[in-house]
Amino acid sequence: MTKKILILPGDGIGPEIVAEAVKVLERLRQGFGLDVELEQALVGGAAYEAAGSPLPEETLALARQADAVLLGAVGGPKWEGLDRELRPERGLLGLRAGLGLFANLRPALLFPQLAGASTLKAEVVAGLDLMIVRELTGGIYFGEPRGIRVLGNGEREGFNTLVYRESEIERIGRVAFETARRRAGRVCSVDKANVLECTELWREVMTRLAADYPDVALSHMYVDNAAMQLVREPKQFDVMVTTNMFGDILSDCAAMLTGSIGMLPSASLGADGKGMYEPIHGSAPDIAGQGVANPLATILSVAMLLRHSLDEGALAGRIEAAVGRVLDAGLRTADIHTPGTRRVGTAEMGDAVVTALDEVSESSGERRP
Ligand code: IPM
Ligand code: MG
Repeated sequence: MTKKILILPGDGIGPEIVAEAVKVLERLRQGFGLDVELEQALVGGAAYEAAGSPLPEETLALARQADAVLLGAVGGPKWEGLDRELRPERGLLGLRAGLGLFANLRPALLFPQLAGASTLKAEVVAGLDLMIVRELTGGIYFGEPRGIRVLGNGEREGFNTLVYRESEIERIGRVAFETARRRAGRVCSVDKANVLECTELWREVMTRLAADYPDVALSHMYVDNAAMQLVREPKQFDVMVTTNMFGDILSDCAAMLTGSIGMLPSASLGADGKGMYEPIHGSAPDIAGQGVANPLATILSVAMLLRHSLDEGALAGRIEAAVGRVLDAGLRTADIHTPGTRRVGTAEMGDAVVTALDEVSESSGERRP
């Protein structure tokens, strides 16, 4: 049956990088038997401009009907002054909540060709392959009560609530354990159990769950130490599982280990296999419209989409192999450019991947995000 993919280009560089990912999907459709139908809708600042809301009802409805969503990026300085409810980021958070996408998989995988592009020493990051499993629809991002209130003395006070139910911890924990089973078999649960009761419960639930996965080794780490260990010795990690906010912070840190945040895809998954796929990086308004952004994270997000929501692991492997081939050939966008390689723009990089799709074979996708 034809599967539906909703394309949400968003803001900033979003439309440029998504256009390259769509080229890849079209090539797979025409040349490799991928049976998909693409639809497009507005989200973020672009949706606010056109429809007065960062997540128009029509977009959410289309996302609900689709088998998978591919998103570019949202946000930009133009909309920073808007009321919170109208800001582009609300569109993203609304999609996550509205589609029940509680599990965010954020791989930090170093392409060997790019070891020299990291700000860390090559020997610290060579061979890096870790997966952050971030809880995405709970915690302090969504906890109530929240707000800014005026106290009796006229001073204002801002407040948010960090809250997790056992069932929420358990379902993200299971995703982490299952993910580790397909990888190196180790889960490190990151919390702040020495200070926060909520994450004391988190640790307790993770420990209890571990009994169901005797083949997976569970360890615990406080988040401050985890941040330090990520830059000290990142290869000690296989799967890290953590709360919404800790995962937000640690995944940016992990992404940078690989040299460029422009390389990393992500998947946000619900209970039923539906997913939203997007590059980890943001909308980069400073370079938007210049045709220099790196489309590879978005193209690799298509690979995750095919693997996780469409059960097309072989085609996903083909995309990843094509990206590897283009890097082997020395093509680099500005963000990953090093001396001796060839600097190309967004479209040239996308076209090169499309061409390479015909030249590579499908790898199995074992241990791939
Ligand atoms: C991310 C982003 C979002 C988040 C923002 C844009 C709301 O930083 O996906 O990591 O905080 O989750
Ligand atoms: Mg973030």
